[in-house]
Amino acid sequence: MVITFFEWLRSQESIMNKNGRVSAIILAAGKGTRMNTNCPKQFIVMDERPILYYTIKSFEESSVDEILIVTSQAYIEYVQKEIIEQYGFGKVTGVVCGGNERYQSVYQGLLKLEHTEYVLVHDGARPFIQANLIDQLIAEVKSYEAAILGVRTKDTVKIVDETGYVVSTPDRNLLWNIQTPQAFAYDLLKSAYDKVIEDEVIGITDDAMVVEYATNHPIKVLEGSYRNIKITTIEDLKAESFQGL
Ligand code: CTP
Ligand code: MG
Repeated sequence: MVITFFEWLRSQESIMNKNGRVSAIILAAGKGTRMNTNCPKQFIVMDERPILYYTIKSFEESSVDEILIVTSQAYIEYVQKEIIEQYGFGKVTGVVCGGNERYQSVYQGLLKLEHTEYVLVHDGARPFIQANLIDQLIAEVKSYEAAILGVRTKDTVKIVDETGYVVSTPDRNLLWNIQTPQAFAYDLLKSAYDKVIEDEVIGITDDAMVVEYATNHPIKVLEGSYRNIKITTIEDLKAESFQGL
């Protein structure tokens, strides 16, 4: 195929413009204190492979262009050798060191990913995410610049005061349990994080909260799957499906 100089120039420009590149940050720098196991929960072996393996595999099978893993210093070599090299995950372009809090780990990931247009942030401890849902979320972020996964709340939720009495019952039709991945235009998320860090905001529990705090940008919620749980306590794992505690 012969291309003209101008076509070539345009293609170079679109590379410089990040060209719709989609990157995923997979978080695996937590200690898993609520799990009460010897190793952090993302490394617990489930059906012969560490939980983080299943998480990375779904992203590898999705249409993301690259995957960045954030883990603690003590696990960088393990992740590189025993997970990425062992299972040949070709989309992983780096393993970087996270921080003490989740938002600090995300920020370390964002600092490494300057040349991307869209970024998905996902908890390493959510191994049941499926590639087709990741792809649906990517389509949403390309339209809305901010899109997150959630499921409709099944339980009745009540606001309870500090002394243990019911204050009110929010309309369940408006309540969602929010999950990851959460996807954003890179520049939107990075500048929102810069502001949250500068303002020393406390109590941040997900990435959408960062965008809510720093901007008025609408955030689209895409209906996800009840299977996409975050492994948090030991009850979240069936006793027969893991070893190596
Ligand atoms: N995470 C991280 N860096 C941190 C804290 C959390 O990368 N400093 C990651 C965890 O590894 C996990 C995800 O963020 O994949 C969600 O966090 P959470 O479920 O709270 O995991 P932990 O912080 O490890 O668990 P705990 O709060 O019980 O200590
Ligand atoms: Mg935590």
